[in-house]
Amino acid sequence: MISVKVPATSANIGPGFDSIGIALNLYNIISAQETDEPLKIDILDDTKRFLPHDKKNLVYRAITAVFKEAGHTERGLHIIQHNEIPVTRGLGSSSASIVGGVIAANEICKAKMSKNDMISFASQLEGHPDNATPAMVGGFTAAVIKDNKTYWQKAEISPQKIKFGVFIPNFILKTKKARKVLPPVVPHADAVFNASRAALLTAAMITENYDNLIPALDDRLHEQYRKRFIEGVDEIFELSANLGAYGSYISGAGPAVIAVISADYEQAFTAGAEDAISKKFARWKFSMLCADNCGAKIIE
Ligand code: HSE
Repeated sequence: MISVKVPATSANIGPGFDSIGIALNLYNIISAQETDEPLKIDILDDTKRFLPHDKKNLVYRAITAVFKEAGHTERGLHIIQHNEIPVTRGLGSSSASIVGGVIAANEICKAKMSKNDMISFASQLEGHPDNATPAMVGGFTAAVIKDNKTYWQKAEISPQKIKFGVFIPNFILKTKKARKVLPPVVPHADAVFNASRAALLTAAMITENYDNLIPALDDRLHEQYRKRFIEGVDEIFELSANLGAYGSYISGAGPAVIAVISADYEQAFTAGAEDAISKKFARWKFSMLCADNCGAKIIE
């Protein structure tokens, strides 16, 4: 049995739509082995209530996609999933399944895919590289797909200096639905707004000049269109600003919201967020996370 531990990821950090993401310290463990029996999928946590246990299962689909690419004839498979990452909330649960499946399959069928090959392969399966890349390598990543290849760069982020306050609602938002509301064309001024901030965001994260995050977490390419699906999002942004966050953004396609904060404010922010949730935001939960700089790894 091959077991892979894969971190949660937050894509679309601020202005980095479809490109900039980060790995966070919340994990799925995906195990797989070939058998001579029919497909068997065991899911060991609550997500077993709604994740598929048949060939629609994303881990299974990722594994068999690698087998196909490698020309490996499929036998039976036993897959075990232990999921901590909430599903369909914008925290990279699909990517974790794909990345875990791709890594496990690469080992099982000795496909000899390099890390770069696996990043490109997983990004293609997802359709965008901003979750798959940090899930695979950890840290803060910028990634672009060109001619089916993912070009990427990672920067490590100090868990001692910067924290990610994650607000997770009790409702889901499917990426497909959230992508459908995006316009095919945006005003030039909005493109400039995002391009300039994405550059500043990347520079701020690399140089640890975090005050630059104050303007650099704003977005005009997707949040304004997706907010309609996320009841309470503006209030969560406002709460985070009042509690001293550098800024907040919709994580991935949403509906989770992430406030980026200085580690100096960690305790005060957590106390304020939990207090507000208990009084006013009954549909939301809060967790304080930090960067995972390691990415997916084989643990067994
Ligand atoms: N960049 C993607 C999107 C992330 O916003 O649709 C969701 O998987």
